[in-house]
Amino acid sequence: MEVVVCSPQDAARLAADLVEHELRRRREPVLGLATGSSPLRVYDELARRHADGTVSFAGARAFLLDEYVGLAAGHPQRYRAVVERELVSRVDLDPARVLGPDGLADDLVAACAAYEAAIGAAGGVDLQILGIGADGHLAFNEPGSSLASRTRVKLLTDRTRADNARFFGDDLDAVPRHAVTQGLGTVLGARRLVLLAQGRAKADAVRSMVEGPVAASCPASVLQLHPSATVLLDEAAASLLHGVDYYRAAWRERLVPICG
Ligand code: GLP
Repeated sequence: MEVVVCSPQDAARLAADLVEHELRRRREPVLGLATGSSPLRVYDELARRHADGTVSFAGARAFLLDEYVGLAAGHPQRYRAVVERELVSRVDLDPARVLGPDGLADDLVAACAAYEAAIGAAGGVDLQILGIGADGHLAFNEPGSSLASRTRVKLLTDRTRADNARFFGDDLDAVPRHAVTQGLGTVLGARRLVLLAQGRAKADAVRSMVEGPVAASCPASVLQLHPSATVLLDEAAASLLHGVDYYRAAWRERLVPICG
C-alpha cells in the first residue's frame, strides 16, 4: 500500500492525476465513484480540469460504490443524485453511462446480481475512488463484512447512521437503515484503488486499515490485499500511524511516479 501524507488540496490533485491518467490512456475508461465528503475536492479538481480543457470524460463509464435502500428517486441524498450533482453535471461524462446499485428495486437480490454483471460486462473498474468510515467501513461494508463479499444489502451500524445524519439535516430518523453496496471482493476487483481520508475522526480507522491485521473488524484493511492501492491522508488522519516517517521517506524517495 502506498501511503501519502499531504494537504487535502495536494491529495485532491494527486487523485485527479490518477483519474486523468486513466482517462488519457484508455479508450473506454471505467471509473469507480464514491460519495461522502472525502472525495469532494477531487471532483472539484476534475471539474476545474474539464473546464480548462485538460480532461475529457467522453467515452468513460462510471460505477457507484453504494446506494441507500428506499430513498425516493428525487431525494437529494440518493448517492446517484449526489454524484450527478458533484461530478457528472460538471463534466462531459454521459449520465447514461453512470450506473449505481438500485436501492429501489422490488427484488434487491436480483438487482445486486445485475449490478455485478454490469461491472463485469464493462470489463471491471480501472480506478476506484474510496473513502473510509470512522468505523473502518469501506463503501457500506460495515465491520463484520466478508472480505470476499459481492454486491448485496447491508444493515448500517448506528455509528454510520449517526455519522451520515449530517447529510439529512441531523435528523437520524431520516437516515436509511439499509444500503446496497459493492462487496469487499467487488472493490478488490478494481485494477487500482485510491482512498482519501481527512481529519482526526478517521485516525483510528486509518491505523487499523494500514497497520492492523487484515480483518473483517476493519473492512478497509482489505486494501492490504490489493497490489495497487494508494492512500492519501492529511496529517490528522495519519496521526496514529506508527510508520509515518517511513511512509514519508518512501514517498519522497519513490522510484516510480504515482501515475506510472
Ligand atoms: C459513507 C459512504 C462511504 C464513505 C463514508 C465516509 O458511509 N458509504 O463510501 O467512504 O461514508 O464518508 P465521509 O467521506 O463523508 O467521511
